[in-house]
Amino acid sequence: MKPETWNLKKAAAEKSLECIHDGNTVGLGTGSTVRYLLEALAPRVQEGLRIQGVPTSQETALMASQLHIPILQDEDYWSVDVAIDGADEVDPQLNLIKGGGGALLREKIIAANAKQFVVIVDDGKLVSSLGVAFPLPVEVTPFGWPSTVRAIEQLGYRATRRERNGQAFVTDNQHYILDLHGPAIANPSRLAQQLHDIPGVVESGLFVGMTSTLIVGTPQGVVVHRPPSRV
Ligand code: A5P
Repeated sequence: MKPETWNLKKAAAEKSLECIHDGNTVGLGTGSTVRYLLEALAPRVQEGLRIQGVPTSQETALMASQLHIPILQDEDYWSVDVAIDGADEVDPQLNLIKGGGGALLREKIIAANAKQFVVIVDDGKLVSSLGVAFPLPVEVTPFGWPSTVRAIEQLGYRATRRERNGQAFVTDNQHYILDLHGPAIANPSRLAQQLHDIPGVVESGLFVGMTSTLIVGTPQGVVVHRPPSRV
């Protein structure tokens, strides 16, 4: 990744601190952009900002703990004021593909729980249609996964099981990830529903109509967008 991309991610992440207020419960996303958020948030917490984090992955929970950011446990009852997370692709309606890091299920549970869902990206993530450049991650049960692949492929996508070091990649929830390759996603809402209807699919990486605020790092500076219906 180009060094300037890291700067754009960092700038978007730092801008998102403005969305966090004293006393908030904050959903903490997963990925390289969120790492900048945690690094920027930690000194604010040391200075007295009172927040409780809800991590979307074991990776984020570990980093938050190392930075002394207080976190709630997986089985606590949370009422999330604002969740902040990265994305793999963002379309003009601010629909997303997420799950490049394999954390999409927890990310979606926490985003859905949040009063505000703030997405932080560099401008390379903006696309005219989802699914062209980045395969769509789908979390599935290991049980019967080849049958789930077959059912998904009837929707017109090629599904490959994600691997790491020659072994199946296993999520924090002990599931597999299938990456779907195929045509541009013309109707994200419909595809999300079609995937949900397949037994064995736990969740898809399509986040449709969930974004409250999009913060984009660009070479010209940070730009904040809200979805057309919420302006
Ligand atoms: C994690 O599963 C993903 O949804 C990430 O949020 C997404 O891949 C963005 O990652 P980066 O911030 O590393 O680009």
